[in-house]
Amino acid sequence: MPCGSKPVNAGQRHSPTPKNSQQEHQQELRCEITRLANKVAIVTGAGTRSQNVSGVGVATAKAFADQGAKILIVDMDETAAQITESAITEAGGEASIYVADVAHESGCRELVEAAVESYGKLDILMNSVGILGRGSVMEIEEDSWQRVLDVNLKSMAFISKFAVPAMIDSGGGSIINISSVDGIRAGMSHSITYAASKGGVIAMTRAMAVHHGRDNIRVNCIAPGMIYTSMVEAVNEKRRELRRQIAPLGTEGTAEDVALAAVFLASDESRWITGVLLPVDAGLMAAGPQSILSNIIGDDGTLLE
Ligand SMILES: NC(=O)c1ccc[n+]([C@@H]2O[C@H](COP(=O)([O-])OP(=O)(O)OC[C@H]3O[C@@H](n4cnc5c(N)ncnc54)[C@H](O)[C@@H]3O)[C@@H](O)[C@H]2O)c1
Repeated sequence: MPCGSKPVNAGQRHSPTPKNSQQEHQQELRCEITRLANKVAIVTGAGTRSQNVSGVGVATAKAFADQGAKILIVDMDETAAQITESAITEAGGEASIYVADVAHESGCRELVEAAVESYGKLDILMNSVGILGRGSVMEIEEDSWQRVLDVNLKSMAFISKFAVPAMIDSGGGSIINISSVDGIRAGMSHSITYAASKGGVIAMTRAMAVHHGRDNIRVNCIAPGMIYTSMVEAVNEKRRELRRQIAPLGTEGTAEDVALAAVFLASDESRWITGVLLPVDAGLMAAGPQSILSNIIGDDGTLLE
């Protein structure tokens, strides 16, 4: 919770007001220590061009910066990266940009070198970059298959290839790979390449967690559900409402929901958590077909309004 803010409905549950000045003093001290103070983070796919909605990368870069981390914003779109950089620096945070196509090993190596050169070390890697593919196996083409796999999966492996030694030099670190509910259950995007890449991210996360536990590097994975981001800005209102309704919580998530989970996984608060797949999906992955149906279809068989 940000310093100075109060929990929603706090008065109904418990009083957050310190009972005496000693407690007040301790609370002030805690507020001065942000959760990612002195940490250096790389966030890929952290650029933004949308005026209306936030992507996962940009929301996470801002959330990390709010918590005191220095951020290297990585994106292949320079203007998009600059918009995020300005937002962070105007809010009092520290950030710089690195323009690279993360599908290539050379770019992966150079961006890690840039982070270490700029800030002296590396503690956090948020692998957020991801693109959609199209179609079933009958529709795939070699070029687009390769591109989606390179951007969504190979990039995470090859940035980690250079990030892990840098983190070892820093005494350890936290890597967060962004998968998708599409990597767990079939058919959300109707893209075989996207599903294959996101399933691969989950398997790779577990292997990396096991390989690098003794290096004090934690590797975890977030599977966002049907959140509203720039990637799905074109979804029409009717479909958007259905996306809300099928989940147990019945509400739409945002990139900021994913960013807050990433802050936890990046921070020392999760120091004993590695190899985890964390859906941030309003309960969608917990729901079976029957519960999904009953969330959207009434007893009379009609679609709920
Ligand atoms: N949006 C959703 O509903 C949703 C759901 C589940 C998972 N995800 C995952 O979350 C992650 C972020 O999604 P988003 O919707 O915030 O994306 P986004 O489209 O808003 O942002 C992606 C950014 O990545 C950059 N990028 C694309 N290819 C690149 C490359 N090769 N090298 C460098 N930069 C590149 C783009 O320029 C863009 O700024 C992705 O991995 C996506 O698969 C999103």
